[in-house]
Amino acid sequence: MVLIAPSLLAADFSNLQGEVEDVAAGGADWLHLDIMDGHFVPNITFGPGLVAALRPGCQLVFDVHLMLARPEDFIAPFAAAGADFISVHVEACTHLHRVVQQIREAGCRPAVALNPATPLSSLDYILDAVDMVLIMTVNPGFGGQDFIPAMLPKIEALAARLRQQSRDILLEVDGGITRETASAACQAGANVLVAGSAVFGSPDRPAAIAALRRAGKAASVP
Ligand code: DX5
Ligand code: ZN
Repeated sequence: MVLIAPSLLAADFSNLQGEVEDVAAGGADWLHLDIMDGHFVPNITFGPGLVAALRPGCQLVFDVHLMLARPEDFIAPFAAAGADFISVHVEACTHLHRVVQQIREAGCRPAVALNPATPLSSLDYILDAVDMVLIMTVNPGFGGQDFIPAMLPKIEALAARLRQQSRDILLEVDGGITRETASAACQAGANVLVAGSAVFGSPDRPAAIAALRRAGKAASVP
């Protein structure tokens, strides 16, 4: 199974509702929503108000990626806005386990995100509590960056660890996903592909989504 999660960051901000309808009709599984605060990352995007405004018109799973300095202050608002998954960065949380609990108690599915230079050992005492791990394949903050190839052994090692521990959770990759890198990431063990530029930057979104899925599926280890 390979799930495709177009990232709204690369959409036309003057027509967000239309953009979301386009990828939903075009076969996307999830909608990835990048929340940036200008502190944890050097960029600012949008908040729970926009997520709530898009929710009624869209059936896709809302995958909210919090790139915030104090994510614990924003779990309740994003849960109320209609988030399904909420990812928090391990680098941003002093009390990571508490934040993950907060997400679950708010009725959402918790995930933890790791920056490129953050080792997998940071998952040691939290893996049992989450439904997904998000491996950043670029430094967070901007769309359109190049996939960092050094993340492939990291994805492989995490996939092996999940198999070993019989942890059937999702392994998401985010940043620089193209047909080529989708294939490499899925071969390494990823099963959720976030794609901003590769989907919204294409004039034919259904074809872009199908191409990513095909590339990912063909490379996936059964
Ligand atoms: C980067 C974001 C990504 C971004 C990916 O900080 O987390 O979700 O939208 O964009 P592309 O696919 O263009 O690299
Ligand atoms: Zn993201």
